[in-house]
This record gives sequence, C-alpha cells and structure tokens, in this order.
Amino acid sequence: MAVREILHVGNPTLRERSREVTREELASPAVQQLIDDLIDTMHAANGAGIAAPQVGALLRITTIEVNHNPRYPYKPHIPLTVVVNPVIEPLDDEQFENNEGCLSVPNLRGNVLRHVNVRVCWWDRDGNEHDEVRRGLTAGTFQHECDHLDGILFLDRVHDTRSLTTWEQFERFHRDAFVERITQFVRRVGS
Ligand code: NI
Repeated sequence: MAVREILHVGNPTLRERSREVTREELASPAVQQLIDDLIDTMHAANGAGIAAPQVGALLRITTIEVNHNPRYPYKPHIPLTVVVNPVIEPLDDEQFENNEGCLSVPNLRGNVLRHVNVRVCWWDRDGNEHDEVRRGLTAGTFQHECDHLDGILFLDRVHDTRSLTTWEQFERFHRDAFVERITQFVRRVGS
C-alpha cells in the first residue's frame, strides 16, 4: 500500500492540463503502480474520487469509488472505477446544484452547478473502452474528477461564494436541508 501526498490548492500543478495516456504507458509498471497508489490514497483519505494531478502526476487518470463513504454518506454507491483518458459530454441542458468538497481543498465545501445527465467514454486500467451514461450525484462526481484533469477545481465553479462553509459548519447549519433535497433528487434521477 502506497499512500501518496495530496497536493493542496495553491500548488501550481493542480492548475495544469494533464495529458492523455498512451496504451503503452497504461500497460507500464509505473502507470499501473500510479493507479494502485491513487486507489490507496483515495481510500486513506475517504475520498469519493481522486485524480492523478492531485498526487502530482499530470496524466488523464482518475479513480472513483463510493461505498458508504463517511465524507459523503448520501451519495449512491459507485463501484471502484479506474477512468483513463475520459471524454465527458452533457446529454442535455439540465443542471442541479451540488454541494462539493475536494481532497485538494482542505476543510471547505461549496455549491456548484453540475450537469444531471452525462455521457462518459473512458478506458479502464486494462485499456478496455467504456461508453456509459451517468446521472445525478454520480454524474457530478465524474464531472468533478474530470475537471481536475483540466486544472479546474470546484472552487472555480462556485457561483455564490456565500455558500462556502467549513465541513464543521456544513454539518451544523446546512447538512440536513441539503441531504433532504439531494435525497429526493437521487430518487428522481438515479445514478
Ligand atoms: Ni477534487
């Protein structure tokens, strides 16, 4: 198990565009080790996802998993997914207001608009191609992680900075209303 250091907002690497991974690179021990380390680091930090640039590797790779996540207990289950060279496109104009945090932005959450329905094409760690639709909070998680590959943090998408809270103050003042709203949303749109 190798947990890597997570870069924090202010580190210029988080603002770079990550580059595509070739099939040869993906099969290499170094990139397979990076993927293992991303999974270990995501698990150690209780993240719902992590992207390679967050550990300083400017490659278009992210891992996503939601399994009774204590940071995000209302999120629908997402099996461990290794996402390489993702291409994401909205299926329509419908958006929702999500409340997000990020392992690279310690102790801050805020409201961002995300597309409800997206199509995502990617390779898994073996190079197999996937072309799938993701909806709701799961779509939001994919959008958040793909943003990292273009040097974008959720902070850039916070449309009302008055929604910013620490995690403690979110729990204290905002969690109940958000969970009620988002639970109805998840029931309506699925994942
Ligand atoms: Ni993040």
